[in-house]
Amino acid sequence: YPEVGGDLVRVVVSEQEIRDKLADLAAQIDRDYAGKEILLVGVLKGAAMVMSDLMRHLRSDVSMDWMAVSSYGAGTQSSGVVRILKDLDADISGRHVLVVEDIIDSGLTLSWLMETLERRQPASLEIATLLRKPDAVKVDIDVRYLGFDIPNEFVVGYGLDYAERYRQLPFVAVLAPHVYGG
Ligand code: PRP
Ligand code: MN
Ligand code: MG
Repeated sequence: YPEVGGDLVRVVVSEQEIRDKLADLAAQIDRDYAGKEILLVGVLKGAAMVMSDLMRHLRSDVSMDWMAVSSYGAGTQSSGVVRILKDLDADISGRHVLVVEDIIDSGLTLSWLMETLERRQPASLEIATLLRKPDAVKVDIDVRYLGFDIPNEFVVGYGLDYAERYRQLPFVAVLAPHVYGG
């Protein structure tokens, strides 16, 4: 199992901090959307953990849908060129859409996604993200519900992967450079 001192350098956001923050954000969401139905839209695969933990705190009337997009062509840098691999099942026109993400890094994925969803004329469109890296952001994104701003380091866990690994960690941690040859 990945541990601090092994594959991991240090914990950036603990399991308890995540749980408390998601409870806070859910309470805000319940207040803001009082009397409305919310369509939660998760971005596969990273958002899986946030989606499931956030939604179990919500008291509002919610549905869940998913999109899969590919933004990283061959390279490791986000290109901003995004392709839909799996579209939403739901028609979002006239609906209150809340996009759920694990992290905003460059912001390119979400910036493209928000434009794409906006064109489908939802009644409202907002973002909830657990993490954001302010020092990596290339495009400004209006985030309504933010968990934590974190340093610009390679982090994994709680849905975030390196080569599809480490998503299962219940916390967010910095990956040791020896793992990715850094
Ligand atoms: C990661 C992360 C976000 C996106 C953020 O997803 O889960 O969706 O990158 O990067 P950006 O702000 O620079 O666009 P990834 O493309 O690695 O797919 P995954 O969720 O399946 O891991
Ligand atoms: Mn993702
Ligand atoms: Mg990834």
